[in-house]
Amino acid sequence: MSMPPIAAAPSPPTRPAKVEIDGVSLRYAGSAPDDGSNLALDDVSFRVAEGEFVAIIGPSGCGKSSLLRLVSGLYPVTAGAIRVDGRVVDRVPPGIGFLFQSDALLPWKTALENVAIGATLAGRDPGTARDKARALLQELGLGAAVDKYPSELSGGMRKRVALSRTMAYEPTIFLLDEPFSALDAQTRIHVGNRFLRVLERLGQAVMFVTHDIDEAIALADRVVVMTAAPGRIAAQFAIDLPRPRDYFQSRMAPGFHDLQQQIWSVLRREMQGVLNDED
Ligand SMILES: Nc1ncnc2c1ncn2[C@@H]1O[C@H](COP(=O)(O)OP(=O)(O)OP(=O)(O)O)[C@@H](O)[C@H]1O
Ligand SMILES: [Mg+2]
Repeated sequence: MSMPPIAAAPSPPTRPAKVEIDGVSLRYAGSAPDDGSNLALDDVSFRVAEGEFVAIIGPSGCGKSSLLRLVSGLYPVTAGAIRVDGRVVDRVPPGIGFLFQSDALLPWKTALENVAIGATLAGRDPGTARDKARALLQELGLGAAVDKYPSELSGGMRKRVALSRTMAYEPTIFLLDEPFSALDAQTRIHVGNRFLRVLERLGQAVMFVTHDIDEAIALADRVVVMTAAPGRIAAQFAIDLPRPRDYFQSRMAPGFHDLQQQIWSVLRREMQGVLNDED
């Protein structure tokens, strides 16, 4: 199937912008100032509308996690600007819920207590926070693990506890860095569907980093594909599949396969640079 090298960007969302990323570049401190090769992000611009689900995909090391770190206000941009709700990000913006790739739970607290922290930060009283934590853990299939400590949980279970904690915070925007990567295929379908139900009900904005093209299409309103490092935008794809969606069944929808092919054709080109693979 022949594809243009860069897909046309979708028309700008008509809803108000939740996140605006304008000409953002990032060079980590300690990198040589004149050495372009140390640039992590290079002139990245895109917007996330209120209630929009944007999946971000790109080769390892292209700056996806770095981009989320910038939006979360935990690291400053080197050039350009990021706005959340119209305000330039210079600290952690209110209403942001993040789940980082290496997210850690507090080892001395149970699963329930870890999740309740999210609800407490959202202003819930301790009783309500615990009820909410219990309900979320049950929804994500961890009803039997509420009183276990992180060291007693599998990697996939810990990841679900961390996701529950982020959801308990009731953010208006989710920044999620490969939140389902530690989950086995079946759990992933279950958790993916639970997560979709919550989002489709409450309509938060989401920036969702994944390495999984099918997952990106199944979940997102738009897929942003990044170039190999330093990360730039290679292409954007509007995903017009109907909602509500099913994490697994939507892969059978008409149009899914075409999107998969188009995204892969861009990503494969970028991966070739990284893996030096001419196949
Ligand atoms: N704290 C840091 N200090 C210096 N360089 C960093 C730091 N964090 C990341 N980098 C560098 O920035 C680049 C982008 O890293 P980042 O973690 O954002 O990539 P990524 O796209 O999330 O990769 P992956 O898919 O493997 O998670 C890499 O070259 C990495 O080595
Ligand atoms: Mg990463």
